[in-house]
Amino acid sequence: MSDMRDEVRARFFETFGSEPGGIWSAPGRVNLIGEHTDYNDGFVLPFAIDRRTVLGLGLREDRMLRVASAFADELVELDLSDLSPNNLHGWSAYPLGVAWALGEHGADLAAVPGFDIFIDSDVPVGAGLSSSAAIESAVAVALNDVWHLNLDRRTLALVGQLAENKAVGAPTGIMDQSASLLGRADCAVFLDCRSLDSEIIDLGFTAAGLELVIIDTGVSHSHATGGYAERRASCELGARLLEVESLREVTVTDLPRARNLLDDVTFRRVRHVVTENQRVLDTVRTLREHGARAIGDLLDASHRSMREDFEISVSELDLAVETAQMNGAIGARMTGGGFGGAAIALIPSEDVSRLQVAIDGAFAEHGFGQPDTFVVRAADGAGRD
Ligand code: GLA
Repeated sequence: MSDMRDEVRARFFETFGSEPGGIWSAPGRVNLIGEHTDYNDGFVLPFAIDRRTVLGLGLREDRMLRVASAFADELVELDLSDLSPNNLHGWSAYPLGVAWALGEHGADLAAVPGFDIFIDSDVPVGAGLSSSAAIESAVAVALNDVWHLNLDRRTLALVGQLAENKAVGAPTGIMDQSASLLGRADCAVFLDCRSLDSEIIDLGFTAAGLELVIIDTGVSHSHATGGYAERRASCELGARLLEVESLREVTVTDLPRARNLLDDVTFRRVRHVVTENQRVLDTVRTLREHGARAIGDLLDASHRSMREDFEISVSELDLAVETAQMNGAIGARMTGGGFGGAAIALIPSEDVSRLQVAIDGAFAEHGFGQPDTFVVRAADGAGRD
């Protein structure tokens, strides 16, 4: 991490010819449980991970916004007065989209100075670990500081989500930015996506002798196109037909009635969301009452529900989950939006290397590309470094 901060300082100087006024960073996240529940006003239980986006920021005397990064060979420039979602393209839509979204949440963009930003990140892209939310959250906390906006973290999460929805064009929920902004070391963020109330929940993985392993299948996905928006539309249709504001209001006991009212596909989409909300609540209670070793079945059930009812898994994710389950994991599931990305496995520390070998073997046997398997730890959320 300190290496990346030094690198960012050096690259900032090289790019802009001055020292940054400060360094800020924000983590990616992994979702322990609660998938596709956030935009249904439901519950999620993600945690911030020890992979971060780091940025250097310097204020300017004029109104230019300039952004550069370690992952694209270009310097993007825009005048603050021209900032609008229509003028934003490619990777720079993430940082500049946040500057625009702050204006929508009360910042007086006519009165603030321009900035130079250089960004680097070790959050893998396209793995379902929210590399985009990490950029958004790092930029949001940095601009909140230097523009003296005094917005709270809940609002900054909404800012990041607005940037993602309008500047990037992905119709995603509030989970990723919330995790990146509210995360705490060794803890998960239990978020009620309707009220945006959150609670920090002890994970206790280390005390229980467990590690959380990510298996990044390398199958890349984008939520700006395709299946994600379709699933969201099915959920909205289900809510409309059941005459509720959101699927949050439907409980497991309402499912028999829902089955009579909905076509098979819509019913299964609804059943996933409803049972997944319940699994989040059960996971929180189980963590508190019985500890991390007791949540495995809930993780497994979540995966089944995504594979069979929500239909967002792919063969590589199913193979990763099955292989983990057969090689010591106490629970495993795909994580994130689906259609690619990563699976997680909660596994005793002593079984991690055996799992890595088994995963490599299984993927080779099926002719799939080599996945990247690594341990993540729950880390602190975004802030000034
Ligand atoms: C993506 C979105 C989140 C959430 C998950 C699915 O990560 O960005 O808002 O909807 O998918 O749980």
